[in-house]
Order: sequence, then C-alpha cells, then structure tokens
Amino acid sequence: MGGDRGKAEKKSSRTRICATLIPIVLACCIIGSTGENVEMSRPLQQLPAVDEDIHVTNEESGGLLPTTLEPYHYKVWLQPYFTESKDGSKFLDLDGKVDIYFNCIEDTRNITVHHEYMTILKYELYDISGEVDKLLQTESNTTITGWDWYIITSMGSLQAGVNYRLYMEYVGTVNHLDNFGFYMGTYTEDAIVKTFVASQFEAIAARRAFPCFDEPAYKATFDTALVYRPEYVALSNTYSILNDTYYDPNTDEVWSVTYFGTTVKMSTYLNAYTVGDWACVQSTTRNGIDLRIWCQPSLLYQAEYALNVGMVQLSNFEDLWNIPYPMAKMDMSALPVFSSGAMENWGLVFYRENYLLYSIEAGHTPDRRKDVAQVIAHELIHQWFGNLVTMEWWSHLWLNEGFATYFEYVGTHWVEPGFEMFEQFFQTEAQYGTFQSDQQGDSHPLIMDVAPNDANSMFNAMTYLKGGCIIKLMDGFVGVDLMFEGFRNYLNQFSYDNAVSDDLWAALTQTIELDMGGNMKDIFGYNMKELMDPWTLQMGFPVVNLTRTSTTAIQADQGHFLIDPNDVVEDEEYGNLGYVWHVPLTFTHKTEQLFTNPNMEWLHLTSAVLTLDGATDNDWYIANINQTALIRVNYDVDNWGKLTQQLLVDYKALPVRNRAHLINDALVLGQAQQLDHVVSMEIIQYLYNEIEYMPWQAYEDEQYYTKYMLWRTSTYGLLQNYISNLVSPNYASLGWNFDYTEDIDYFRRLDTLRIACDYNHADCVANATNQYAAWMADPDNNKIEINMRSTVYCTAIRHGGENEWNFAYNRQRIDPEEQNRLRSAMGCTQLNYLLTGYMEEALTGDEFGARITIGFVRDNSALGFSLAWTFTVDNFVALNTIYGDSAFDIAWTFANQMNTNKDLLELNAFGNVYSDMPVEAANDFNEAVKRVETNILWMERNEDQIRVFLESL
Ligand SMILES: *[C@@H]1O[C@H](CO)[C@@H](O)[C@H](O)[C@H]1NC(C)=O
Ligand SMILES: *[C@@H]1O[C@H](CO)[C@@H](O)[C@H](O)[C@H]1NC(C)=O
Ligand SMILES: *[C@@H]1O[C@H](CO)[C@@H](O)[C@H](O)[C@H]1NC(C)=O
Ligand SMILES: *[C@@H]1O[C@H](CO)[C@@H](O)[C@H](O)[C@H]1NC(C)=O
Ligand SMILES: *[C@@H]1O[C@H](CO)[C@@H](O)[C@H](O)[C@H]1NC(C)=O
Ligand SMILES: [Zn+2]
Repeated sequence: MGGDRGKAEKKSSRTRICATLIPIVLACCIIGSTGENVEMSRPLQQLPAVDEDIHVTNEESGGLLPTTLEPYHYKVWLQPYFTESKDGSKFLDLDGKVDIYFNCIEDTRNITVHHEYMTILKYELYDISGEVDKLLQTESNTTITGWDWYIITSMGSLQAGVNYRLYMEYVGTVNHLDNFGFYMGTYTEDAIVKTFVASQFEAIAARRAFPCFDEPAYKATFDTALVYRPEYVALSNTYSILNDTYYDPNTDEVWSVTYFGTTVKMSTYLNAYTVGDWACVQSTTRNGIDLRIWCQPSLLYQAEYALNVGMVQLSNFEDLWNIPYPMAKMDMSALPVFSSGAMENWGLVFYRENYLLYSIEAGHTPDRRKDVAQVIAHELIHQWFGNLVTMEWWSHLWLNEGFATYFEYVGTHWVEPGFEMFEQFFQTEAQYGTFQSDQQGDSHPLIMDVAPNDANSMFNAMTYLKGGCIIKLMDGFVGVDLMFEGFRNYLNQFSYDNAVSDDLWAALTQTIELDMGGNMKDIFGYNMKELMDPWTLQMGFPVVNLTRTSTTAIQADQGHFLIDPNDVVEDEEYGNLGYVWHVPLTFTHKTEQLFTNPNMEWLHLTSAVLTLDGATDNDWYIANINQTALIRVNYDVDNWGKLTQQLLVDYKALPVRNRAHLINDALVLGQAQQLDHVVSMEIIQYLYNEIEYMPWQAYEDEQYYTKYMLWRTSTYGLLQNYISNLVSPNYASLGWNFDYTEDIDYFRRLDTLRIACDYNHADCVANATNQYAAWMADPDNNKIEINMRSTVYCTAIRHGGENEWNFAYNRQRIDPEEQNRLRSAMGCTQLNYLLTGYMEEALTGDEFGARITIGFVRDNSALGFSLAWTFTVDNFVALNTIYGDSAFDIAWTFANQMNTNKDLLELNAFGNVYSDMPVEAANDFNEAVKRVETNILWMERNEDQIRVFLESL
C-alpha cells in the first residue's frame, strides 16, 4: 500500500515534541494503510534464533491456517447492492458464490477457510479427481470468530494428493465504515450524490468479500464475475472476457454480469473490484501494455498526468528488471473514498484522488505533482516487489514496502528530474523519518513476529521508511548496478512465489559472489545475511563517534543511538544482537575531497581505525559521505569547528547531502546531549549563504527542540534574530511569488517563508498580515498559498488582535477545509484572555476536543505554553471526567517543553495531588519527570554557551 500512512506516522512521531506548530503540508512520501497511529502489536514470542525464518507457526500462535490443504484456483461471483432507491431490503448486501479448488497435502477431515461479515448459506464439497465431480458428505460446520475461521468437517477423510472443490453461497455486506473489504463509498459529483463499490483487501480483508485461504503465501489464480446494474462500469484485475445479463429475482430487474479473465497466480489480498460511474483516458505503453486512468467523469481532465507518468514508469520498471509485466492491462483508478493512500492490486491499482489526479489548471501545487509521481511509482514497483514476489508472512512486509519506498525515488526521478529525488528528498523523507521513529528505547525491529489478526500493525513508518533506508545503505557498499542485478535474480527465483528476508540475502550473496569470483565469506569475512541481520532484526541504528588520535588516524566507535540520554531499551520481546552493526563507513578529508569515490572502512560489530591518507593537521575530515548509511556521526569538537569554518568560507566544497547531514546530526546530537548544542548553532550560521533546499529542510526538521527549550528564556530573542537573519537573503531572493511550474524551488520557497514568519522576520510578518487582512475583507476569496496557510494564519493572529482572532473563530465554523488550520492558528494569539477563553469554551463545548485545543495553545507560543499548563492543572477534574485516565497524558505532554526547577516542582506537585492515579499513568508520570530532569540538564549544559555565541554575532 502507499499514500498517507507515513505522513501520518511522521506527524505523530514529531508530535512527541511538538503537536501543532509544524504545518504538515509537504507530503512525506510513502506510506500506506489503515489509519493513523496504529499501535505496534506486541509480538507473540521471542525472536527465534537468527538463522530461522521468522514465521509464526500454528502451535505458537493461534490463527494460522492448517497446512493440510492448498488452494490453486477460485471462481468468485459477486453481486453488490449499493443503490438505496432500487435495492429495497437488499441494500448494502453482497450476494456471493465461490468455488475454491484445492489440493490436499495431508489427510484431513477439516476444511478451514477465512470469512468475515458474512452468512454462509450453503456449501458443497466435491472430489474432482475423476471425470465427473463427486459430491462428498459433510458432517458439520464450525465458526471460530477470533480467527475468522469457518471449518467444514467432512464425513470421510480427504486424501493427500487429491484435488477437491468447495462451493459456497453466502450473503455478505458492502457496509464497511472503515472502507476495508468490498465496501460502498458515497461522494458528490456535480451536486449529485453518488455511490460506488470498491475493494481494499490488504492485509486481511479479502475474507470480507469471499471465503478464502486469506494468507499471503496461499497463491492461486482467480476468475471473477461482477454483477451490476447496466449503467455502471465494472473493473477487476484482468480484462473482461464476456459480458452477459442476469435476471435478479431480488429486484426483479435485469442486471449486467461481466466475467473477467483468469488472473496470474497471486495472493488473495491483491484481488480488486470496483463498480461505479467511472470514465477513463487510455494509451498503450511502449512495451504494449494498455494503461487506463479512471476517475469521476468530471475530473477526467486531471488524469492526463498520471497517464504520462504511468507509461514511462511501467515500461522502465519492466526494462529494469527484464521481466515483463504479465497482465495485458493496467488500470489505475482514483476513488473518491479510500482507506489507504493507494493500493497496488495487480492490474487494478486504487488511489485516493489526490494521489492520482494532478492538473496545473485545477490549481494543483508542485508538491501534489510530486506526490502523484511518487505514489504511482510506489504502486507500480509493487507489481514486481509485492505482487510477483510476495513476502511469506507479514513479518517480512518490508520486502514489499521497503522496496516500494526506495523505488519511489527511482521512478519519480525518471519523470520529474527537477525534484532531485535522491539528491534532495530521500534523506529528509526516508532517512530522517526513520531516525525519528527508531531513536527511542521502545522502538522495535524491522522484521518481527506478528500474529495473523495484527497484520495491519506492520504498516508503519518502520516497515516503509527504514525498509527503504536499508536498501539505500546497501546501494552504498554493493553498488547500484550489482545490487539491481541481485534484485533481478531474487525476482526470477521467487516469481509467483513467496520469499523471506533470508531469500533476498541469499540471492544478493550469490550475485556478488559471481561478480567477485569467490566465496563472500572467505574473501570478505561475511555474507549479505550476516552484514544485514543487525539492521533488520534489532531495533535502532548506530551513532559512530569519530575522534582524531593523530594527524592521519581516526578512532571510530559505534553504539546504539538514543535521543534521550536516560532512555532504557525495552527489548524483552525481541531480543537484540548486542546493538552493534556492520557499518560501511565512507570518509574523506580536506586535502583529498573524494566525494565520488570516497575511502571506506567497515566497522564490523565493533570499532575501527580510519586512516586519512595525505591529510595535514589543519584538514577537516568528514564521514558517511552523502549520508548514505543509516547512522548518526559525531566528530571530535575540533573537527566540528573545522567543518563549520569550511562551510562559512566555501560551503560548496561539501556536496549538498553532506551539508544537510552535518546540520541534522549536530542538532540531534545536541538534543541527545552527546554534543554541545552550541555546535549546531554555529554550524547553521553558513545557511545565510545556502541556496539549496535540503540543508534548510534538515534544519527545519530538527529545529523544535532548541526552540522549545529556549522560548521561555531571555535567549529566545537572540535566537529569533539569528534565524530571521540567516533566512533573510533567501527571503529577499525568493519572495512570495509561487510559480507552480517550479520543481524543487517550490519547496525551498515554502521552507524559507515558513522559517522567516515563524521567527518573526519583519517583512514576512507584514506580508502574512496583509494577506490575512485581504482574506478578512473578502472571505469567500482566500488567495493565500495553500501550503502557506497555517503559517500565514498563525503569524497574522500572533501579531494581530481581537479582530483577526474573531475572524478565524467565525470562519472555522463554516469553512470545513480551513477549520483545522484556523483552530490551530487561534492558539497563536498573544492575548491572554483569548487563549484562556478558547480553552474554557473547548472544555464546555463539544465541537473540538479540549485536548486538541489545549495542544494548540501549548505548542504555539511560550505564553500559550504557560497558560495551557495552568489551565490543565486548574481544570484537571473536568478533563478527567471527559477523558478518563487518558487525561493524564494531556498533563504529561507538557514535560517535553518543561526545563526549569520550577517546572519540575509544579509537575511533582500535580503528581502528588493525584497520587492515586492508575499504574499506567503513574509510569508515564515517572517518564515525564525524567524528561524534565533531562531538559533541565540540557539547559545547564547549553543555554549559557548558546547565549554567549548569539551575543557574539
Ligand atoms: C452449519 O451447521 C449448522 C448446525 O450446526 C446447520 O444448522 C447449518 O445449516 C450449517 N450450515 C450450512 C451452510 O450448512
Ligand atoms: C477440526 O475442526 C474441529 C472444529 O470443527 C476442531 O475441534 C478440530 O480440532 C479440528 N481438527 C484438526 C485436526 O484440526
Ligand atoms: C464488456 O463491456 C465493456 C463495457 O461496455 C467493454 O468495455 C468490454 O470490452 C466488454 N467485454 C467484452 C469481452 O466484450
Ligand atoms: C559517543 O560520544 C558521546 C559524547 O561524548 C557519548 O555520550 C557516547 O556514549 C559515545 N558513544 C560511543 C559508542 O562511544
Ligand atoms: C555524493 O553526492 C554528489 C552530488 O551531490 C555526487 O557527485 C557524488 O558522486 C556522491 N557520492 C557518493 C559516494 O554517492
Ligand atoms: Zn506499498
């Protein structure tokens, strides 16, 4: 799946520190699935010994189908009722019939299939080994609800080696409010309310449409028939092979029935259907595949871009793998209602409209164009990684989604080189996203056990983003060409089959050995599995400390990076591999400046010594060239100083990804108290001259801790002037003239303006205020750049008075699209009584939750923070009444910004008042106290130094 998930994740991971200040407008990349904030499930058991496949077995965990039977073909007949005015009592029903053809592997009397939300009306079991199918007697049926099982027990035993057919009739439903399964969606086109049906089966919802062996390893072929009223269009994975009519006794009408051709052998979750009022544009790729883009007829003018993107990417991926896309057609459909961002169903890919439709005439921004190109690439690469070769079990989901993440960048670059995907986006989106979600002690490994009914929990930032980073790490030391050759071998070996991570490592090892003409272990000491297991089987990633011990020698030590110096690793359920890694460490120095073919030294589960050939004492050195490996790098203070000087004198000496790397690492290491934070303040000084996007974005991503620590201190004014000054040259040259034909510069402009306004750059504030005033004067004509709205509203309200606030208050009630942005911006005012009144109203009213409103006030200014804390303490009884025990979380969130002894006293006093709080809340209270103590320590270590530096400017 692709689309929104990573976005949501990225947002929520940041929310740990800053709930609402950051406008989450820029698309991160990726992403998938089932709604926001899916908590990771706890695995069922310890990770098995490293050599074993990670696949839960039936004894260890309930819910995996018995391995006695193997389906090889299905015939599915589906009649969804989704027209209320004509369906009568059948409205929302899904009438279905299925034939499941299967082979018996081991004698058994039980036939166990998945089913959910349906009533089985009838079943018949046939022995089909003879000329005529022979009806067999059945004894009973049993439903096991927790596992969605339907077990039919036959009278006699089924015989190993014999083929059988199970026929079933059932009534299911299309009424799925979560939009999973075969669901009905409602939308409005040209003021007419319309309905459609479509499917979303990954991970475990095919069973809602028809009884099946609903696990990814049970691959089979499928024949589908859809029954629908003639005015609609019906689509499925393959082309139709027959159109017919069907008399429906329930409605006494003649319906259409379309039979679709047999699919290739595939997992159940890749089946797809839609019936609706759809129109398409179409073309044929250079390799002869028919490509159609479907959507509401009124939006068809926005479909051309996806067609162009899809044509290039589909053929390029075929050529890259030298494996043809095996279906005759590829349909890509924009659905007005869809649960995930997009879904790679073989031959019928579904998207949310905003991830498929793009047109500059419709006023769509370059970031939407980037999203569309990226999400299409994500879904198209899945036709190989995911569809052709599928992970054996959901534990190995990264074999689908990690690849999809990496190849989003490859595929988008083909069609939109101006976005400089690998040069400017991979790092912030995939890499920094991974860092943010994997730097806590309660993180989890990329590959881990997952119970059948928790499969959806695997669709998280780790699987998508860390998965992509692992591939980037490999391309750094294997080389892209050889790595792709390994992928080709992997795809060929496991086509129409399933694989586990070890299969990938074996294919890569084989490929590399062929290339180097010898055994990897003999020559190199390790094979690919040994090199990669520490990255996939334990949580986290390393920080590498570099210390210069002589003119030409660097000591390199590695350890598990944790953002919080007091964090404790919670890995009882996963085990660990000692929190050491195989780190391919590239490096160069000032005299040498080898950024294209840098030196490399491995840290094999331990330390290493790097040799700086030809370096002089005055030379800086730099490691992890282009930030290719998923590691943080810390230098000795002297070297940080030399790098800072280099940036100030001539920043272009370091290629752009390295500049971003230095900024991002310094800010985060400073936060983690592994580096004096003043170093990060010094290193960003060169940004005054920086005109590329990435380094600014690297700063923007990690600016919040510094801001939150300082904004209630007298140092904040200095910080504000500093940042506002750093951004001023770019502000002057870029201005507010958004041009939607721009590529990367659109993103630069956004970053520049957001940072400028957030740090009260005078002209930015004046502009924002004027634009907001213009909107107030003409409320139905909001001309503010869509991706600047959060910043503009907040800035205008922060610098405005009651009028600006009241306008927002009234407007948000009638403008649903702007409501969230406005409600957040209302927390930006600096008028006490408005902020307090805002929270009071939220406590009594039911429009927006008090919890959210308190967050808006807390995170948008220093004044708001203090008022929100007082308000929370004073009104805790009421909050407790509304939210129950989770009201305590509201209080603990303040700890992220608390950093004085007075704060600590107040937090403790609050804890004492509620000393009878539940255990869970008490644990979180202790965490919060630790958090504040850490912040206090940070202040003691850093505030004075930062002030001295800022005053010296
Ligand atoms: C399943 O078994 C019950 C008795 O336990 C029986 O009443 C019912 O008809 C059976 N279902 C089907 C579809 O045969
Ligand atoms: C067959 O299914 C029944 C439930 O109908 C269950 O009690 C029994 O354990 C199953 N037998 C096997 C061998 O799985
Ligand atoms: C079935 O009808 C659809 C819609 O008219 C058409 O596109 C398709 O080609 C038809 N299929 C066959 C096999 O005639
Ligand atoms: C790296 O250096 C930091 C700061 O001195 C220290 O806190 C950390 O423990 C060191 N880690 C390793 C692996 O040496
Ligand atoms: C690092 O990036 C620069 C471009 O910014 C490129 O020229 C160089 O080849 C890259 N080096 C490596 C090792 O990827
Ligand atoms: Zn995906």
